[in-house]
Amino acid sequence: MSTPENLAHIGVVGLAVMGSNLARNFAHKGHTVAVYNRSPEKTRALMAAHGDEGAFLPSETIEDFVASLERPRKAIIMVQAGPATDAVIEQLAEAMEEGDIIIDGGNALFTDTIRREQEMAARGRHFVGAGISGGEEGALTGPSIMPGGPTESWETLGPLLESVAAVVDGTPCVTHIGPDGAGHFVKMVHNGIEYADMQVIGEAYQLLRYAAGLTPAEISEVFREWNAGELNSYLIEITAEVLAQVDAETGQPLIDVIVDAAGQKGTGRWTVKAALDLGIPVTGIGEAVFARALSSSLEQRRAAQGVLPSGELATFDGDRDAFIEDVRRALYASKFVAYAQGFDEIQAGSEEYGWNIDPRDLATIWRGGCIIRAKFLNRIVEAYDANPELPSLLLDGYFLGELSGLIDSWRRVIITATSLGLPVPVFASSLSYYDSLRAERLPAAVIQGQRDFFGAHTYGRVDKPGAFHTLWSGDRTEVQTS
Ligand code: 6PG
Repeated sequence: MSTPENLAHIGVVGLAVMGSNLARNFAHKGHTVAVYNRSPEKTRALMAAHGDEGAFLPSETIEDFVASLERPRKAIIMVQAGPATDAVIEQLAEAMEEGDIIIDGGNALFTDTIRREQEMAARGRHFVGAGISGGEEGALTGPSIMPGGPTESWETLGPLLESVAAVVDGTPCVTHIGPDGAGHFVKMVHNGIEYADMQVIGEAYQLLRYAAGLTPAEISEVFREWNAGELNSYLIEITAEVLAQVDAETGQPLIDVIVDAAGQKGTGRWTVKAALDLGIPVTGIGEAVFARALSSSLEQRRAAQGVLPSGELATFDGDRDAFIEDVRRALYASKFVAYAQGFDEIQAGSEEYGWNIDPRDLATIWRGGCIIRAKFLNRIVEAYDANPELPSLLLDGYFLGELSGLIDSWRRVIITATSLGLPVPVFASSLSYYDSLRAERLPAAVIQGQRDFFGAHTYGRVDKPGAFHTLWSGDRTEVQTS
């Protein structure tokens, strides 16, 4: 049992790799860290392997763990989202006292976090849903952290989280996002953007491989070159590593040995569901989620392969280097759309739930530590610095300037991909989103006419205010309904 003088500043419950690495990160920064895992073997393993890295207070019961924390107690839960998290929250709430803080560091659904925060507040406990991005490595060396919850909790937690977060230009990649579920909401959208980012990189690979005929090793080299420019990002960097990897067993490029069926734990899906409810088109993110689902429909794909007619396919006969540059530009433009749509969703969620999220703050803490960290995020910070009320990120001066140099390549790449029968769902949907945004007239007028014809749902007129209905089954005269 701890004595008052050596109580822990912070505690971590759940010592799988992420939890252990986060605990180690706190210890490396000079904090005394309480650690607990339901099965004590993991606690013992952490102490055996890393106990000498700092001041740890291991416990084998939740009661001892709580007793080893200084007041107000702060415990970060790093267990699987869902029932396991609920169970630990209940145990901590029971063992803790008024004003103590429970932090859920997993990928919980933001609506669960809103509910839990209310429940915990009624019991005198503070509840913080914190998105933690950067994977196992990030947890150890510096993640991006997106805590929601009461402002009062942030006052206590902030300095601790700032001490372990990634730092970019002297600024820790953590900030108080907003009340209750705000933190988990933005982490969810971060993951949705991540899905789109990963998909467009995959589509670029597909084109360089199967249109331009580059080998994985050559594409790895191309990605390394791209990583030296505006596309500099963690995802481009690691993809170059993946493509350079040779499978020890077969001597083949590892990429050719990996089954082309993408998994997904659910945060991308949640992003799209939330966007549908908010009425925000996140077409790039949505196509990325569906692309993962389609890739995993192996039985259906096998039934279709060699059966669905391909039609007359072209062969690639263009200039390879020019095409590679076109693909780079199409990737960059599609990335703009994914981020613009993600930030639209975040602003819509902030308005819907009263979170008052500052998009500039988000872009700032996403510059480092998280999976979507990229040089490009500095541009988003500058964009929202210049105009926090931007109707769309795409309308910021930098993005407009870039787009004028990207758009022709974007169109050429999609024409080439289509003529070769190569699927580029996010490249193509992002261009259609872009063209829809800039269009003078959209086919929605036809939809309004159809809706009025079969359901008398009325339509607006371009030349005068009000709602109108045509008497389709009568004399087809128009009546004004409001
Ligand atoms: C992060 C990652 C992480 C993600 C897992 C699984 O920000 O560190 O986004 O939180 O949940 O890597 O992601 P999938 O949904 O792709 O399975």
